[in-house]
Amino acid sequence: MARIAVVYYSKSGNTQKMAELVAEGLREVDGVEVQMCALPGCEPGDVADVDGFAIGSPDYFSYVAGHVKVFFDEALAHKNQISGKPYVAFGTHGGGAKVLDSLERLAQAIGLRQVQPGMMCMGAPGDNEVSAVRALGRALAEAVTGAW
Ligand SMILES: Cc1cc2nc3c(=O)[nH]c(=O)nc-3n(C[C@H](O)[C@H](O)[C@H](O)COP(=O)(O)O)c2cc1C
Repeated sequence: MARIAVVYYSKSGNTQKMAELVAEGLREVDGVEVQMCALPGCEPGDVADVDGFAIGSPDYFSYVAGHVKVFFDEALAHKNQISGKPYVAFGTHGGGAKVLDSLERLAQAIGLRQVQPGMMCMGAPGDNEVSAVRALGRALAEAVTGAW
């Protein structure tokens, strides 16, 4: 069984909705077990041994939210275990749409390997975005399980 962590922070629920849709997409692929890692309250050490990561953040001042930054700060100590693993990024914003730049830089800094371009939604995912968010999760699961 491949294990994939969905790491995210959400204060008002938009990014959590995206995280849940990504998780649905992950579960569409056989042989995948999803570990939700809501920040704060989940440490890099809790998920460093998974096979892949989906990481999401709201856009805070054109950067990742503080709890997501702290996750990456602490993940550096687990870089040997995390480096080289596949990941996808996702985020929500209020119109600025800058959060993926910082999220992807941080992921690259700890050696994660991007499976495909990340996805942002303005606010909660709209009806026309739901299937694309699920597809992001499915693409990660397929990369992890080698099903592509
Ligand atoms: C402190 C703070 C800073 C924010 N800064 C930005 C910003 O720079 N650009 C932007 O597009 N949205 C910004 N937003 C809006 C949030 O990114 C947006 O509402 C997001 O969907 C919230 O996610 P959540 O519901 O998962 O908490 C900010 C919101 C807060 C609370």
